[in-house]
Order: sequence, then C-alpha cells, then structure tokens
Amino acid sequence: MRQAVGAGHSVAVLSRSVPPDGAPGRIAGAEYFRADVTTGEGIAAAVAGADVVIDCLEGRSGKALRGFADGGARLLAAAQDAGSARAVMLSIVNCDRSNASFYRSKASKEHVYELSGLDTVVVRATQFHSLLAMMFGAGSKLRIIPAVRGARFQPVSPADVAAMLLETALDPAPVPVADPRHRVLNFGGPESKDMTDFAREWQQATGAKGQVVRLPLPGAMGRYLREGLNLVPEARHGNETFRGWLENSADTL
Ligand SMILES: NC(=O)c1ccc[n+]([C@@H]2O[C@H](COP(=O)([O-])OP(=O)(O)OC[C@H]3O[C@@H](n4cnc5c(N)ncnc54)[C@H](OP(=O)(O)O)[C@@H]3O)[C@@H](O)[C@H]2O)c1
Repeated sequence: MRQAVGAGHSVAVLSRSVPPDGAPGRIAGAEYFRADVTTGEGIAAAVAGADVVIDCLEGRSGKALRGFADGGARLLAAAQDAGSARAVMLSIVNCDRSNASFYRSKASKEHVYELSGLDTVVVRATQFHSLLAMMFGAGSKLRIIPAVRGARFQPVSPADVAAMLLETALDPAPVPVADPRHRVLNFGGPESKDMTDFAREWQQATGAKGQVVRLPLPGAMGRYLREGLNLVPEARHGNETFRGWLENSADTL
C-alpha cells in the first residue's frame, strides 16, 4: 500500500477493521473501507472504480479458513461487477502440494482465481522474514528459540513481495477481454538456509536470551517443510536478506 501510494496511485484498502487516523499502521493518502469478504458486506464500495485488485487476505483457522476460497470468489465477483481488469492474489509456494488444511485453503482459492473471467495472477511467495521473527520471538519468551528439525527456509521481505505485487498488478501487457488469462508466479527470498542459521541471526540481532533448539514438527506442515516444498531455488528474487531485514527493522523487533 505504502509503495502504491508513494508511486502516486489511488489506493483503497479493504479489511474488517479500519485503523484510526494517526495509528501506526495507517497509511496517509490511502482510503480505508470496512468490509468483510466472509459476508460480502462493504466489498462493492471498496472495489468501486478499481482498475486492479490485489488480494492479500488471510484466513488462518475455523470459519475463516473454511470460507477462504468463497471469500476470494466474493471479492472477484465484486471486482468483475466494478469493471476491474485484473486481480492479483498473494499465495504460498507449493500450497497445492500439501495436505495441511491451511495450504489446501490457499490452493482452493487459487482455483477460484483460475476459473474467474478476469485476467488473474497468483503470486506465490515463500515465508516472510516477519513470520520467522514471530516464531523465534514467541519461543524466546520461554527461553527456547525454535528451529524445525530438517527444515530449510528461503524467507522473503514483505516489502520485496509488495513491490512484486504492485509491478504485477500494473504490468501493462494488454489482455483481450474475450480471452482472460491466468498466471502463477513464484517469488522467493534471496537465500536458503537451515532454520537454525536464521534462528542464530535473529538471536544475534535482538540479543534475546535462550537457546536455539531443534524441534520435530509432526503432521502435514512438518512434511511440507521437511520435503523442502517451501523452497523455490529457481525463483530467488527478493533483495533484502533476513539479516538485512533484521537490521532495517531494528526499532520494531
Ligand atoms: N506471512 C507469511 O509468511 C506469508 C508467506 C507467503 C504468503 N503469504 C500470504 O500473504 C497474505 C497475507 O498474509 P499475512 O501474514 O500478511 O496476513 P495478515 O497480517 O493476517 O493480513 C491479512 C489481512 O486480511 C484482512 N482480513 C482477514 N479476514 C478478512 C475478511 N474476512 N474480510 C476482509 N479482510 C480480512 C485482515 O484485516 P482484518 O483482520 O482487519 O480484517 C488483514 O489486513 C496471505 O494470503 C498469506 O497466505 C503470507
């Protein structure tokens, strides 16, 4: 959003809660709309007049997870009614190769995008630097900095992903309305390492107390990581490494 506003675009932000004026997350120059893709309430007003829609919605558990693909369908239908030409969805690399319900919900929504009548692009990113930092931070409260045994990561900076989403949304390549197309693009971070290496970098940057501990992660999520499905070695695109991101985010860690 920040990058889009900075580039002079008119930006409408849709979410269930609107940050009040002056709140740290609120971006001056963007217009905020309260809307809920689960019920459909407020979506039409938010997308009215939008040339492109960028969908970064999340639905981690329960009803939100079960209704994730339907929420995407509601957003796309509203975009189509509003005359938007293109919709870009942020997704996760290889989500269609995992049985984890979280990833299955992403793959279902990707399918909704594929079948829509719009020009659609799915940008599949690797895990964000902020996600790794959040996991390390949560564990460190118990003096354990967790690293999933056997897992490598290729994390990416949220700002690099945002730049890619914006570039993809604005790509001027003309698409005939009668022949909408669907594309899937992978977007990974610049380096891939064992999770313990990232854990040590995080500890060095934050000075957090605790020990880096390798822990097993059972279930479909563990399998996804151990099989390296979170890695896209052929798609190293981001510029900001985890260490660089930690340095640049020092005030907020
Ligand atoms: N985090 C990662 O490592 C990672 C990696 C690759 C891809 N992704 C993808 O990136 C996207 C964003 O992830 P994130 O971690 O940044 O999630 P996030 O911080 O939870 O952001 C999700 C956004 O969706 C809004 N939202 C959720 N439910 C909604 C609803 N029913 N109606 C309207 N708005 C709703 C939330 O605002 P409200 O709660 O105010 O509604 C929030 O602004 C997801 O699609 C995720 O799969 C994330």
